[in-house]
Order: sequence, then C-alpha cells, then structure tokens
Amino acid sequence: MTAIPEPILEAYAGFPYPYVGDAYRYSTNVEPAGSLTLTALGQWGESLVTVDAHYRAELAERREILQRDPSRHAVLAHMRPAAWDACLTLLRELATAYPQHFTLAEVGELRWAWHNSLTGDDLTFTYGDDSTLPDEPLRWVSSQVQEDIVLLDQREQLYGDAGVVTFAADWSFGFDVGMSFLEIHGPVPRIRDERIITRAHSFLMRLQPHAPYRRTNWTMTIGRRLDVSTETYPEWGPDREMIQLVDDETFGRLVHLRVEVQHLIRLPDSGAIMFLIRTFLMPLEALAQVEPWRERAAKVLAELPEDMADYKGIIKYKDRAAAWLEAAAP
Ligand code: HEM
Repeated sequence: MTAIPEPILEAYAGFPYPYVGDAYRYSTNVEPAGSLTLTALGQWGESLVTVDAHYRAELAERREILQRDPSRHAVLAHMRPAAWDACLTLLRELATAYPQHFTLAEVGELRWAWHNSLTGDDLTFTYGDDSTLPDEPLRWVSSQVQEDIVLLDQREQLYGDAGVVTFAADWSFGFDVGMSFLEIHGPVPRIRDERIITRAHSFLMRLQPHAPYRRTNWTMTIGRRLDVSTETYPEWGPDREMIQLVDDETFGRLVHLRVEVQHLIRLPDSGAIMFLIRTFLMPLEALAQVEPWRERAAKVLAELPEDMADYKGIIKYKDRAAAWLEAAAP
C-alpha cells in the first residue's frame, strides 16, 4: 500500500470511517459506547465527547449561528432539570476525557468549579441555579462541546423537548422540537417498513444510566460546511447543482464524506435521554489517499439505492463521487 501522507494522518486520524461492508443499508446500528475503534488511519470512540483541532472554530461558529438564529436552541419548561443534568454530565465527560484541557471540581454542596483552558472559561456555579451560569445551562454547555445536543423526555413515548442543534444535516431542530421520536423520523424512507425506528424506540425506552450506546450515520456535504440545516438551505442547496459543473480536481476538494457519531445516554438525575451528534467532515481528495477507505466508499456509493440517495440529498452527485473515487485508484 502506498504510504499515507503525514498531513492526512494528522488531520484525520480520529475520523470515524462509517462503512463496515461494501453496501450500506439502514439498521438499528447501536453498540455500547466507550470502546476504541481502530481504523486504517487511527482510532475513535474512546469517549462520549470528542475535542479536536476544530474546537475553537466550531464553537465560534455555533455562537454566531445561535446569535443569528435563536430557534436552534430550545428548552421546554419541563426540561429544565434535564438541561442541568446534561450540563453537568457533559462537563464531567470533558474533564475525564481531556484532563489536560478541562477540570471540574466539587467545591461545596451542589457547587462546582469549572476551568476550560481552551476557551479561558473559569467559573463556579451552583447545580440547578440558572443565575450562577452566564446563560441557560444547555445553551451554555453547548459553548464547551463540539457536539450538537438533543434531550428527549420519556413519557408514554420519547419526545425531543430540548436541544441545541447548530450543525443539522438537512433537518430543522426548531421545526422538530416537541415532536415524538417516531414523528421526528417520519421523513426517513424504508425505516418504517423495516421496523428500524420502532425497534430503536423500544431500545431507547429501556436505556439505563451509566450504560451509554452509540451509532454512526453518514451523508455527503459540499464544502466544509457544518450548518446544512433547513434554515440555511438557500445558502447551500444550490451547491448541489453547482457541483455537477465543476472539474474533477474541484469536485474532489469540495465533496466531503460527512459522518455523525451519535451517542445515546440516559441522564442519571432527570431520566431524560441525551442524544449527542458529533459531525466529522473529510474531503474525497483526502479519503482517496487512504486506500481501504477509497475502495470501499466507491463501492458503497455506486451501490446505494436511489431512494436512500435521494433522501440523503446526494442523488445528483453520488454516482460521480463513486466514479471519482474509483478513478483515484493507485
Ligand atoms: C437508535 C437510535 C436511532 C436510530 C436507529 C436512528 C435512525 C435514523 C436513520 C436511519 C435516519 C436517516 C439517516 C440518513 O439517511 O442520513 C435518521 C434520521 C434522523 N434522526 Fe435518527 N435514529 C436514532 C436516534 C435518533 C434520536 C435519539 C434523535 C433525536 C431527536 C434522532 C433524530 C433524527 C433526525 C432529526 C433525523 C433526520 C430526519 C429528517 O430528515 O427530518 N435520531 N435516524
């Protein structure tokens, strides 16, 4: 195998390459979280939250999006305890996974001291007392993690009743908030017939604290663009036409494989479910330098059924992406 260039190794060692076979279909693809997954380039998956070289840039982007469009954040009134639960859980995860960057210390009854050396944040807060944080707790903690966050309340079903989602892949958190888990998945083809979502729902209803699970999902995005939400469609939708006209070099540079690592966590105090979505992007020109990834991605894209490609929004260029990857064989 040809050697992988050093800059590719450095930039994408933690990339969660999603394909485990030469064809891709939806499934209830969940596995226990926290285990290290080795890949052709490196590894991913040891912690529930991942901090990488894009940390500051992505948090700045989130701050800017939230300022421009407050509908990316919502906490329905009954979700306040869950928002605090999510906040402390995420800070704990950060401090455990990256002690070199973050520290969390209990300094009194319900009093916590937080230090983030990457943002310079240094504060002490009282768990449950909103006035001790600079912002609503869920929105504030979204300024510390790269993950998008959805909190689901468990009544007779699961409802997406809170969240901060600034990097949605072709959906709208503001539109979905308050919907049931089954309603949220309404637009996805196949999964109703194949009973994937009803099975996922029963699984989530039984999820236990301290036993988190994870899954991956993937699509493609044109440009290194995290915010491809319904709200900004006029900005990125036309790229799907544009990309058909560009030369091969530009195509490989602009088309990205977009992978979401999604964690499913039962919060210990509130009983809500925290759904974390961490988005990773890798351009085809980089992917093509990792031979097993190139070879398999070419096959998966060539084989992907039309209805799935259509739903993912890649139908206009996925065949060209497959051919591009095929032609990039060493
Ligand atoms: C085991 C759990 C889950 C499974 C198996 C699952 C499965 C899926 C699948 C197969 C898709 C289509 C993805 C694609 O083609 O790119 C999807 C989309 C989606 N999922 Fe899930 N999901 C799970 C958990 C969740 C949770 C907890 C949420 C929280 C709200 C969620 C929110 C969404 C949203 C918003 C979409 C996009 C729907 C749209 O197009 O409007 N999922 N999911």
